[in-house]
Amino acid sequence: MNILAIESSCDETAAAIVENGVRIVSSVVASSAAMHEKYGGIVPEIAAREQLRCMMPTIEEALRVFDSGSADHKTTERRLISQHIDAVAVTIGPGLIGSLLIGVETAKTIAFVTGKPLIPVNHVLAHMYANCIGSNGGDFERIKFPAISLVVSGGHTELYLMTSEKELRWLGGTLDDAAGEAFDKTARLLGFGHGGGVAIQEAAARIKTPARTQTLPRPMLDSMNELNFSFSGLKTAILREVNRMKTTTQFTADAIGQLSYEVQEAITDVLVKKTIIAAKKYDAQSILLSGGVSANLRLREKFHSTLQKADLSIPFHVPPIELCTDNAAYIGSYAFFRGTPVDWRNVTATPDLSVEV
Ligand code: KG4
Ligand code: ZN
Repeated sequence: MNILAIESSCDETAAAIVENGVRIVSSVVASSAAMHEKYGGIVPEIAAREQLRCMMPTIEEALRVFDSGSADHKTTERRLISQHIDAVAVTIGPGLIGSLLIGVETAKTIAFVTGKPLIPVNHVLAHMYANCIGSNGGDFERIKFPAISLVVSGGHTELYLMTSEKELRWLGGTLDDAAGEAFDKTARLLGFGHGGGVAIQEAAARIKTPARTQTLPRPMLDSMNELNFSFSGLKTAILREVNRMKTTTQFTADAIGQLSYEVQEAITDVLVKKTIIAAKKYDAQSILLSGGVSANLRLREKFHSTLQKADLSIPFHVPPIELCTDNAAYIGSYAFFRGTPVDWRNVTATPDLSVEV
């Protein structure tokens, strides 16, 4: 079964074709991230206009995989969809309304014109299915249940219990800022600009001798609320530290690198420790990591080393870097395993779609 999946929740415009939930037939991503840089954050109006500009060419390119390039001039996109696609999946939320609307209305139109079933998808839940996909099936066959799944993106930090590839239960999430937001806000404070997680990672990697370990808070690690997260206190501590560095003329490249290192340590400590608490509590047989922040190399390494130290020899799954950040391949995988077709008339962009299932 081939699903044509469309993603447009934020500043990425993506289309993919996924076979039987696991094999990526094609995947195309266009991003407007660079256009937001000078504003210090995503400008919804710009993101929506770029979605509009990129949506059809992105879908066209994803479908090109079926175009034999023959001299058959009658090979239209509609014909390719009719012949090769069994269903259309689309992100309906959570996300920015202007961006979501472009993908949702495009998918509805395709379903309307071709008569294909339309599957609405929750973007945050779909992230975890990036672990199931690849050019030859990702890790799907190797995932053992029950699994603990941590989704860490720009807007969400959520823990789930997966008892099968279909059954999910929300265990906890962030009470305020998401981990990705903490990375992004720190990057802005330190002058790295938008899309800051990668910049923090790179600045931290240049530090050979960490000078300020454990100087920032590890929020909610001792909390009774053991499976929830909170990153706003950390953000305030970072702001205070940056102000202090500026007023004492210590805002040097080395000091910025040292602070980046400690910020990355603080965030990753919390993410790893809480996930392991959940894994022990629910006797998990594997751990799944996903979302944009799962591209962080230190986080990936810390999961491996902490599991070893905790003598918890359960498999740890994390998608390849290019499948961590937003794309449409995992939207297609989620639709296959967990989606239900809905009449296109009843599919609506839902910016505040709940992630608590
Ligand atoms: O999942 P995603 O692409 O979009 C949302 O659904 O939000 O996640 C984007 C987030 C941003 O906060 C970005 O800074 C973060 O993922 N990110 C990283 C890294 N790569 C992306 N954070 C830390 N280290 C990285 N290497
Ligand atoms: Zn995302």
